[in-house]
Amino acid sequence: MGLTTGAALASLGHDVTCADIDVERIELLRSGGIPIVEEGLLDLVRAESAAGRLRFVTDNAAAVADADVVFLCVPTPSAPDGHTDLRFIVAAGTSIAEALKPGAVVVNKSTVPVGSTKVVDDVLRRDDVGVVSNPEFLREGTALHDFLHPDRVVIGADDREAAAAVAALYTTLDAPVLITDPASAETIKYAANAFLATKVSFANAVAAMCEAVGADVSDVMAGIGADQRIGNHFLRPGPGWGGSCLPKDTKALVRIAEEHGYDFALVRGVIDVNDEQRHRIVEKIRAATGGELNGATVAVLGLTFKAHTDDLRDSPSIAIVNELVAAGAKVRAFDPTVSLPVHPARQAMLGHAGGALQICDDAYDAAAGASTLVVLTEWPEFTELELSRVAALLGGSATLVDARNLLDPELVRAAGLHYDGVGRR
Ligand code: UGA
Repeated sequence: MGLTTGAALASLGHDVTCADIDVERIELLRSGGIPIVEEGLLDLVRAESAAGRLRFVTDNAAAVADADVVFLCVPTPSAPDGHTDLRFIVAAGTSIAEALKPGAVVVNKSTVPVGSTKVVDDVLRRDDVGVVSNPEFLREGTALHDFLHPDRVVIGADDREAAAAVAALYTTLDAPVLITDPASAETIKYAANAFLATKVSFANAVAAMCEAVGADVSDVMAGIGADQRIGNHFLRPGPGWGGSCLPKDTKALVRIAEEHGYDFALVRGVIDVNDEQRHRIVEKIRAATGGELNGATVAVLGLTFKAHTDDLRDSPSIAIVNELVAAGAKVRAFDPTVSLPVHPARQAMLGHAGGALQICDDAYDAAAGASTLVVLTEWPEFTELELSRVAALLGGSATLVDARNLLDPELVRAAGLHYDGVGRR
């Protein structure tokens, strides 16, 4: 989020300095690399750096000394008890408080509990500096596109002058700017992510019902999505929503509501449906292995929480793999972004699967020796699989579990495999 924001603001003609406390990361950026997979970002970072509009430093105070506007783009992880850990916001705010020039505006872009704009204000203790909330709505994988073509820009501030200074940064974008009070802007962020999660959980719940009544969820979603009041986005059934945002933000919303005396039962239900969905996929895989996971070898395609990102955080695929391993299965997994040797930080995200999870070179390598193949992430290249080759590797009459409804069931069946999707006939 920070790097996308920095590079995109530079491309709008602003003079941008990005600061990070991670020295290795800054060195990588200075040498023309980027630490994440994000469509178009590498080229933009290189172009804006070469044009002299984008710099990278490790000294927060020096970075903000001449800045008119300072964006805080730090992580806001969930603490074990579910509340949002504001330690990084407080540390970043503290590190810049004295260095800010009078009249500067500090923008909180990190996702923080309602009321946190005030926390930043309290940390800074600068009456001559404005504090504004400006939540981000970037999706991983299309973050740059989302920044440059937003549906809306939300700015929350009690200080209208500070809000106008931030709005001015975005004037070249073709998007409505919504100026609210800070609490409303902060609530918009959580409510947007919770609503997106609700749509996906709804699709997954309808898929379960479709299986029970013999309907086809693809047709049902096309039928409801055509109604413009519902919309056809975010209605794809799958193994459940994951990633670094939806799981954290839905839990945080429930907690924030609870702390303010409201039981957000609707979003609690949405989270429950999501947890169930992972188990439903495991049960499909169990059925595909003949009812006994213990001792079975399962091929898994896709480990990231969705396609077009290398992010493994809170990935439903990994939760499912870990359940399979806990039930005694061996898992042979392939993901286009995971290769051996796995970086220790990413290894930690793969969970406790240990030796029972084998990372493979490609989909066919994963299928070799397995009795069942499961598609868990919707990487487009999986649609190009040579299904007859997969069928030969799995052995006759094996089942392919398609947790993303990615493949054409007819083609899978024509290759001699059984097909089990999500809510599909
Ligand atoms: C999400 C929001 O979409 C962004 O607007 C927001 O800015 C971001 O969180 C954030 O708070 O920073 P992201 O985490 O990149 O973005 O992921 P999404 O594209 O929203 O996907 C979330 C999960 O839902 C994935 O696991 C995806 O596979 C799943 N999903 C999505 C479905 O299962 N079905 C769908 O139809 C859509």
